[in-house]
Amino acid sequence: PATGALDRRDRPLRDLRISVTDRCNFRCVYCMPREVFGRDYAFLDRNELLTFEEIERISSAALILGVRKLRLTGGEPLLRRGIEDLVARLAALRTPDGVKPEIALTTNGSALRVKAEALKAAGLDRVTVSIDSLDDALFRRMNDVEFPLSRVLDGIEAAHEAGLPVKLNTVVKRGLNDGEIVDLAARFRGTGYVLRFIEYMDVGATNGWSLDEVVPSAEVIARISARFPLEPIAPSAPGETAKRWRYADGSGEIGVISSVTNAFCGSCNRARLSTEGRLFTCLFAHEGHDLRALLRGGADDARLTATLASIWGARDDRYSEIRSQLTPELRADRDRIEMSYIGG
Ligand code: GTP
Ligand code: 5AD
Ligand code: SF4
Ligand code: SF4
Repeated sequence: PATGALDRRDRPLRDLRISVTDRCNFRCVYCMPREVFGRDYAFLDRNELLTFEEIERISSAALILGVRKLRLTGGEPLLRRGIEDLVARLAALRTPDGVKPEIALTTNGSALRVKAEALKAAGLDRVTVSIDSLDDALFRRMNDVEFPLSRVLDGIEAAHEAGLPVKLNTVVKRGLNDGEIVDLAARFRGTGYVLRFIEYMDVGATNGWSLDEVVPSAEVIARISARFPLEPIAPSAPGETAKRWRYADGSGEIGVISSVTNAFCGSCNRARLSTEGRLFTCLFAHEGHDLRALLRGGADDARLTATLASIWGARDDRYSEIRSQLTPELRADRDRIEMSYIGG
């Protein structure tokens, strides 16, 4: 069997992250600040979105080139109507060796109570839910739409009850929710849910990022370890974003995603498909490759696969590795795409 495509730094393509909507019912301060994503913000029109058929075709081509995991993101992916039908289509795809790709979904959890069972039945393998605080007032302040914490906790439970393995993502912003780190660890150890702390990143051009607001993962580990001793464990897959740690007393594992203090571009095997069908080879890329135009222009599957192969073959991105060498002006580049458009 083919090993698939390699980029200019010899990195394989393994993970396709598919944004299915640019909309979200939350306005997280670090992602879709309400001053920018307000009433007048122009979200994409329905006919601009890739159809499920189009997503399926692109995914099939990506599987030929080596993709093994498909992750649905947004915006908030559960806002896309019929999302379970898309999951079912993707779950029916096979790699050239006949293996079912892993289908994962990143969500804010607000609709999981309603959707978890249908998603599981459609073939979803697992979910990742964002949870930034265990303090209801702070949680509401961070999502900035007064969404109650209890409903997200209930959504997480619904996913678990439906038989979906759960990971939890916490973006840590200094001075905002760094006081929550140990409480979150305490709350979720022993549950089987894998909690991951993410360094706040300078994605997009609207969140007003500054380096002082980043809490380095080393500090996260030190703070948790002081209360619950931790030891490092080996990666479960090459190119994994999170470094894994386990509790010395056997009550499970956590992860830290250190894209600022310890970039992982060297093994980055991810491509991102935007809601309107542009393929980005880096979270920090300026331009995507317009696959929708190709599809709507009548390209056949062979042409689509060849185009994907040449895009991946030309890839040289390693933004997080060079971030520290950039001037603030270069970092503040207005052209940068938003996380809510390209998908976490
Ligand atoms: P699993 O480990 O398979 O669950 O997947 P994952 O870690 O790729 O998934 P997830 O969507 O949970 O990613 C977690 C967070 O890591 C994202 O929301 C981003 O903040 C960050 N992240 C993921 N991929 C990249 C990447 O390629 N580059 C950078 N800089 N950050 C990333
Ligand atoms: N830095 C790090 N992670 C972010 N996410 C959104 N914006 C940022 C940022 N600036 C994460 C969310 C969620 C996923 C969709 O992306 O926490 O886990
Ligand atoms: Fe929505 Fe997720 Fe962005 Fe929050 S982080 S605004 S939930 S897409
Ligand atoms: Fe991959 Fe770009 Fe993130 Fe580096 S910065 S890990 S190349 S997506």
